[in-house]
Amino acid sequence: MGAQAIARRGEVAVRGLSKSFALAGGRLNVLRGLDLDIRAGECLAIVGASGSGKTTLLRMLAGLESPDAGEVRIDGVPVRGVGTERAVIFQEPRLLPWLTVLGNVAFGLEARGLPPPEAEVRARETIHLVGLADFEAAFPRQLSGGMAQRAGIARALAVRPEILLLDEPLGALDAMTRMTLQEELARIWRDERVTMILVTHDLEEAILLADRVLVLPRSKGERPRLVDVALARPRDRSEQNFVALRRRLMAELSLH
Ligand SMILES: Nc1ncnc2c1ncn2[C@@H]1O[C@H](COP(=O)(O)OP(=O)(O)OP(=O)(O)O)[C@@H](O)[C@H]1O
Ligand SMILES: [Mg+2]
Repeated sequence: MGAQAIARRGEVAVRGLSKSFALAGGRLNVLRGLDLDIRAGECLAIVGASGSGKTTLLRMLAGLESPDAGEVRIDGVPVRGVGTERAVIFQEPRLLPWLTVLGNVAFGLEARGLPPPEAEVRARETIHLVGLADFEAAFPRQLSGGMAQRAGIARALAVRPEILLLDEPLGALDAMTRMTLQEELARIWRDERVTMILVTHDLEEAILLADRVLVLPRSKGERPRLVDVALARPRDRSEQNFVALRRRLMAELSLH
């Protein structure tokens, strides 16, 4: 070793996190006393049946929703609302239709006080990173779904977040585009060394990208489980251990 350790940021600690919602005169417990540690620079995937609480958990990590009990700490600091060290990517990119790709990506940087010339330089770099360099002058209506989502990813990355929170970011895309963008997310995660927390329905996506997979149970009586993805990168979807892990996750989710 010998190299000086670089202080890594983007560590997430979840302690006793509970959340319930009012439902038909009663309470629906979505999460109960969840404890979870996510390392700085880790990629964690969150999977589970529809309604198992994936989005609710991600929204609490983002600070968009407050827990009933427990807390989320980021680099030791309790989360109270949204923060500049976190960026969220939703299923729909939600671009501003009257701005170009460059304008959309630079917008958030300028909103954070970066002078316009610097915002433009950094926006261009990030657009290049997601492979949209030829389309920086295009408006959102001129983009395909996959390109729009790339622009959304660029916008989130441009502010250099420590933590990237993604809620089914590729869920609305066709299978081919999704596979391409999965590979790109893997590359971006590796190059940017960002902590990535990814909600997905797609077990293959979870195994391709994640260091660990958090499986939220269908039945609220069960505890969430963590599964290690101990496969070398870059990962090969057709490799035997990959397929075996996919089978195991399907079993965890009681899909067969
Ligand atoms: N604001 C809210 N008010 C009331 N109930 C809610 C609210 N948000 C979520 N819920 C309930 O909490 C449960 C978990 O919802 P959540 O959106 O977290 O599920 P999910 O795992 O993301 O599902 P999906 O895979 O369908 O996106 C659901 O039963 C849902 O009805
Ligand atoms: Mg959801």
